[in-house]
Amino acid sequence: MADIVFKENSIDVDTYLYLRASVGWKKLSYTQAKKALKNSLYTVYAEIDGRPVGMGRVVGDGAVICYIQDLIVTPEIQGQGVGRKLIGHLKEFVLGISEENTEMMLALMCAKGREKFYEKYGFIARPTPNLGPGMIMYLHKSIEDYAGDSIMSLPDNRVRAVGGRICAADNARGKEKACKDDGESIQ
Ligand SMILES: CC(C)(COP(=O)(O)OP(=O)(O)OC[C@H]1O[C@@H](n2cnc3c(N)ncnc32)[C@H](O)[C@@H]1OP(=O)(O)O)[C@@H](O)C(=O)NCCC(=O)NCCS
Repeated sequence: MADIVFKENSIDVDTYLYLRASVGWKKLSYTQAKKALKNSLYTVYAEIDGRPVGMGRVVGDGAVICYIQDLIVTPEIQGQGVGRKLIGHLKEFVLGISEENTEMMLALMCAKGREKFYEKYGFIARPTPNLGPGMIMYLHKSIEDYAGDSIMSLPDNRVRAVGGRICAADNARGKEKACKDDGESIQ
């Protein structure tokens, strides 16, 4: 493999969207992606001959908990050690910002079939006999119906959960917004 270069805290929105698309993850809006990068604690991406081939980022409070997000290696480069190196950068960053004599939880949502990859680097798959499962929900906000509103502040009878995603129900018109479960492996 040609020389690989790792660049920290400099990924641009187009590269981020390109890398997500390369592994078939769901589309983000440009502004959503921009905000996600801006609010990250750390980003790293990998280039070969100026071409992006992988990335990872860390989100979190930087003191008690950090999450790895968007760990991606483009399909044609997978299996050549880039994912291992990206994990190394992410762990190193988190250790670097950790306070002496404290413990940071480093967490992630594992895509289906990647459990063994993460276990190699010390992650524990939950649930265990002592730890419950990780739990998530998708909050879907429809600008069309609720522009300017926070969905969490809507009265209960206008919000309901369907298949792990929160959907806004429009009682006035007696119909619901369509919601779909995006599937577990799509981050
Ligand atoms: C998961 C992913 C980041 C791994 O990156 P990669 O560059 O292919 O992995 P590496 O080549 O660095 O592999 C490191 C080690 O993990 C192993 N490994 C990699 N993917 C694995 C998998 N899916 N299952 C089991 N082991 C795996 C490799 O065999 C290698 O083991 P070795 O050191 O004993 O030889 C990459 O496959 C990817 O981007 N997949 C699509 C997006 C995705 O699912 N990301 C994870 C989101 S949670």
